[in-house]
Amino acid sequence: MTSDYRQKEQQQKVSQQAMSQHEKDIAYVIHPQTNLSAHEKTGPMIINRGDGIHVYDDQGKEYIEGVSGLWCASLGYSEERLINAAMEQMRALPYGQTFAHRSNEPTIALSEKLIELAPVPMSKVLFQSSGSEANDTAIKLAWYYHHANGNPTKKKVIGRVRGYHGTGLATASVTGLPHMHSDFNLPFDWVLHTDCPHYYRFAKDGETETEFTDRLIGNIAQMIEEEGPDNIAAFFAEPILGVGGVVIPPEDYFPKLQALLKKHDILLVADEVICGFGRTGNMWGSQTVGMEPDMITCAKALSAAYMPISAVLVSNPIYQAMVFESETIGTFGHGYTYGGHPTCAAVALETLAIYQENNIVQHVREVGGYMQQQLAQFKDHPLVGDVRGVGLLAGIELVKDKATRAPFDKPQMTAGKVCNFAEQQGLLIRPIAGETLALAPPLITRPEQIDIIVQKTADALDATYRWLKG
Ligand SMILES: Cc1ncc(COP(=O)(O)O)c(C=O)c1O
Repeated sequence: MTSDYRQKEQQQKVSQQAMSQHEKDIAYVIHPQTNLSAHEKTGPMIINRGDGIHVYDDQGKEYIEGVSGLWCASLGYSEERLINAAMEQMRALPYGQTFAHRSNEPTIALSEKLIELAPVPMSKVLFQSSGSEANDTAIKLAWYYHHANGNPTKKKVIGRVRGYHGTGLATASVTGLPHMHSDFNLPFDWVLHTDCPHYYRFAKDGETETEFTDRLIGNIAQMIEEEGPDNIAAFFAEPILGVGGVVIPPEDYFPKLQALLKKHDILLVADEVICGFGRTGNMWGSQTVGMEPDMITCAKALSAAYMPISAVLVSNPIYQAMVFESETIGTFGHGYTYGGHPTCAAVALETLAIYQENNIVQHVREVGGYMQQQLAQFKDHPLVGDVRGVGLLAGIELVKDKATRAPFDKPQMTAGKVCNFAEQQGLLIRPIAGETLALAPPLITRPEQIDIIVQKTADALDATYRWLKG
């Protein structure tokens, strides 16, 4: 029996060694946000190396990372300063945490830095490892705040159609993308969704931008009235929707929204997970769209994605409510093992130092302005309905009919095809909601590299057009 088992194990080991990395991936790895059935046929693209804005697959083929991985590798793939910051911190104290009065110097310094950088006055910082955890934390803090203020019925959270806030139970619920809910028994019933502020796609015929904004704000006011202001805790919004289609709200959207939320003591949470740290040509997306949030969540470019770290910044009234509530209960009953991780904090601190020393915001304004100007030429392409963006963040929305703005019948198929053609030419871009191509190259991208990105995108669009024409 034992020897049979050993023999079988040995045979399995031999066959595993004979398997290629592609076969092993199919055999063992589950891929998030992936059609798992299709993956069993296509297998993975295995990326083994990065250098500057480029990554290289297991065949040595070079690609420009046109979306910075998942909108996060802001300083590219070979920033020695970040590698050294991690190594130095790991040698000194590889792990630390912030439960029960413990602290460590990188976490203290990073908190101070984030408060200094915040777009509106903020009081304190709480760390986690991911954007989802940060947003989940912000939901809990909104509830805690309202409890402390004697408003325990304020529980409902408003998100927006096409908003993306993460993948945890609560954050996937606030997310407004149906595939994040289907068959996961989501969203929770305390989550409400309101309109996406996407003028090109959702404006009515003849509606001006101001009329569109007023209609959306009116719908939110009506929702608040119907649900009861005493039942609503918070409103979650990305300054510019990322995964939902790179949607830039009309100029007066946030000022009008904020006035409404303030009236009803509904907290505004700015999800800066994509927009934060220079992406839109300001340090924060909130500054780009005139948002004055009560809480800010951030992640991704906080550490240039070299380490998993996220943060929630809270205003002073929220912090004071937390102090009050924790005193009443006896403790602030929340926290993650890796919140306040010194290695992650040290890398984030070094990242922020690089942004400031290299004036990354100015660089993004210049190179991003150039990128937007170059991409605007695609407005004339027969497949393109809209081109929009700011800084180094752009969306190219594809349509079946330019005149009517009618979308293609099979969601994402055409955008997916463009991305396939781009990949063949060594450019990684991503199909996102609303048949849109996302571009968000690393913040260090140079103008001549933008030219290459634009040329490869043009070639991929043309190839897709020919493919559609058969
Ligand atoms: C705006 C926004 N919020 C939250 C998240 C979730 O972050 P994470 O994947 O780190 O949990 C994302 C991820 O893309 C995001 O784009």
